[in-house]
Amino acid sequence: MDKLLITGGKRLVGDIQISGAKNAALPILCAGLLTAGDLELSNVPNLHDVATMLKLLRQTGLAIEQNGDKVVMNGSAINKLEAPYELVKTMRASILVLGPLLARFGEAKVSLPGGCAIGSRPVDQHIKGLQALGADISIDAGYIYAKAKKLKGTRVVTDMITVTGTENLLMAATLADGETVLDNAACEPEVTDLANLLVAMGAKIDGIGTHRLVIQGVSSLHGAAHTVISDRIEAATFLCAVAAAGGDITIRNTRVDIMDAALEKLREMGLRLTVGDTWIRAQMDARPTPVSFSTTEYPGFPTDMQAQFMAVNTIADGSSTVQETIFENRFMHVQEMNRLGAAIQTDGNTATIRGVQQLIGAPVMATDLRASASLVIAGLAAKGETLIDRIYHLDRGYDRMEVKLSAVGANITRIK
Ligand code: EPU
Repeated sequence: MDKLLITGGKRLVGDIQISGAKNAALPILCAGLLTAGDLELSNVPNLHDVATMLKLLRQTGLAIEQNGDKVVMNGSAINKLEAPYELVKTMRASILVLGPLLARFGEAKVSLPGGCAIGSRPVDQHIKGLQALGADISIDAGYIYAKAKKLKGTRVVTDMITVTGTENLLMAATLADGETVLDNAACEPEVTDLANLLVAMGAKIDGIGTHRLVIQGVSSLHGAAHTVISDRIEAATFLCAVAAAGGDITIRNTRVDIMDAALEKLREMGLRLTVGDTWIRAQMDARPTPVSFSTTEYPGFPTDMQAQFMAVNTIADGSSTVQETIFENRFMHVQEMNRLGAAIQTDGNTATIRGVQQLIGAPVMATDLRASASLVIAGLAAKGETLIDRIYHLDRGYDRMEVKLSAVGANITRIK
């Protein structure tokens, strides 16, 4: 199993190119199931989760050619309407094949995702929504069996805002009979990116970017070309790295307009930001100012940045509190950061962080994707060597993070 060895204390200086967004690419790849035409995608990130999704999609019969960040798919010969446990258990986003397969082919068999490190993460809202659209759904031996000759448009109000739940229902509704209204829909930029692609494929969707999506079903969708949006979480992760380690970096191929909540907090931390349309320059020379925040749905502070900001708070000049409201168990990084000398206490979904002058390198263990990224940030700021174990979590969602960090001066090596 690969590990990362970081010798902290190096300032980060230079340019970093941001990749396409994981959480946009995964649903967008599943949209390939909705059409017999060609989908031509670019800016697809080079990630383990993307490789897993392509493997899952290939075994349905979807033809896929991948060349660097380009993926071309053709769904004219899909013949296996199934997502097996072996793949779903490694990536929960596999549930995103359920809506498209059911809508286009009238049936699907998808393994129920199992447990998850950051929370229980049930898929009841995906199921409830598809049932409202007329699907007959049963659960047997760990599999969801869904059937519907033709889905029928209706109004669906999910109990909570769910990102992949909205994406599954949105894809299903594009091919349903009549009008579907998705109320309490997620409006994360990744949902918007998917919706924009679906429109390019011939779907009729109003309210894109809002909590109410109105979809007029069409009889079929056609091929399209699409560029996956830039990864706002990857971009903000590198900005946190410079906030913690100090330096002067410019991130490129980014989307400043979808990063308000994170940029606001980074400024509050003392990061000097200069922004252009597609780039952000970040300069940091002082000890960070602590920031308190509560995670919430877009456009609020993203749960996917909670751990990375906490890493910066551990060395800030004062105390802060961080509240996690989206997932019930997303503080697995806390114990690992405390092993590096951080002073963090948790009480339920609230963490109190007393900033310390200096973290001290130590061996630590990555527990999930964003926790891994936060340990990298802590390691870059720490004195001495930090060895991060189980970095396969990092590879799931960051495109060659250690290569990008080495290029701006970090002392970081992958140990095979
Ligand atoms: N929920 C339910 N029932 C459902 C669906 C969701 O109870 O049927 C709950 C979840 O347990 C959670 C909350 O609703 O407490 C919100 O979960 P959501 O469904 O929005 O999360 P998700 O769609 O499974 C996506 C991202 C996550 C990101 C969350 C929140 C993808 C592939 N994943 O997950 O990304 O944290 O939205 O923004 O888009 C990551 O990239 O590290 C990551 C975990």
